[in-house]
Amino acid sequence: MTKILITEFINQNSLENLNKKFDVKYDEKLCENKIEIEKIIKDYDVLIVRNKTQVNSDILKNASNLKFIGRLGVGLDNIDTEYCKNENIHVQPATGMNADSVAEYVLSSSLSLIKKIPMFHGGTIKGEWPRTTIKSSEINQKCLGIIGFGTIGKKVAEYSLKNGLNVLAYDPYIKEINDKEIDAKLSNLNEIFEKSDIISIHLPLTEETKNIINKSSFSKMKNKPIIINTSRGSIINENDLIEAYHENTVSGFALDVFENEPIKSEFYNKIKPDMNCILTPHISGVTTESNIRVSDFIVKKTIDFFN
Ligand SMILES: NC(=O)c1ccc[n+]([C@@H]2O[C@H](COP(=O)([O-])OP(=O)(O)OC[C@H]3O[C@@H](n4cnc5c(N)ncnc54)[C@H](O)[C@@H]3O)[C@@H](O)[C@H]2O)c1
Repeated sequence: MTKILITEFINQNSLENLNKKFDVKYDEKLCENKIEIEKIIKDYDVLIVRNKTQVNSDILKNASNLKFIGRLGVGLDNIDTEYCKNENIHVQPATGMNADSVAEYVLSSSLSLIKKIPMFHGGTIKGEWPRTTIKSSEINQKCLGIIGFGTIGKKVAEYSLKNGLNVLAYDPYIKEINDKEIDAKLSNLNEIFEKSDIISIHLPLTEETKNIINKSSFSKMKNKPIIINTSRGSIINENDLIEAYHENTVSGFALDVFENEPIKSEFYNKIKPDMNCILTPHISGVTTESNIRVSDFIVKKTIDFFN
């Protein structure tokens, strides 16, 4: 019988569907025990992970029976896809299944930060009454720059256009926007830096995109934009971002992803309650609804693969 190892959380009903057809070992804490995975992986045909399990050559060199890796989410930077290709192991992400969840996060954090909600909240719970000292704005007719115009970037554009934003998009791998519903303009990075009031990043983490937003990028920003990163931490230089915030080059930021996860004290000690920022623990793609969609999708793809 086909054997499946699941090392991170999955929706319970989807798991039950897998259990009906396969021999499944499910331990959502196993992602923290690399040595154990290396030891047992040889017995499994399928490995199902989120982003915490580092599926690198240490694991893969022992995975002599592995045929299929299901990724409960998108972003394959925790999987050695080159190794998998050479060994004929199929890697299946849950493309699009959490796009709505991320788009809602981008829209809600844009609204919150442009309205300076974190600062009003911080002041009010301290007993201050910062009604006139903090100035907030409206989102309508502001310019949103989207960097990386794939599945999630496009979904963010859809949500934002419905809420009165104008959208610029940068993606050198896209020649034109075919979807007539999306009234966005393809642009270059410099134009995005110069014109945007909000910049949202939706890139995969690759050698090319690592550190792509850095000191030099912030120095080109004219409108003191809000920066939102839900893609991968290392794509933005976090120290340069905080410096840009203190220099008033950017007026706020929402970070859902970080270079080190969980974040380390060297980073969070730099964040003060009076800053216009939102930090979240890599949850923009994870909602009750998206967990069901992502899990059902990977279960279906696994069943299809073995059929
Ligand atoms: N925080 C979360 O919970 C969460 C959830 C889902 C996805 N993500 C991250 O978001 C990323 C994007 O997801 P997606 O589903 O939209 O992926 P996607 O592959 O559909 O889109 C990525 C886009 O980036 C473009 N791109 C690649 N290199 C580029 C470069 N150098 N400059 C500009 N554009 C470039 C590609 O052409 C593509 O259109 C994922 O790789 C993942 O890391 C995070």
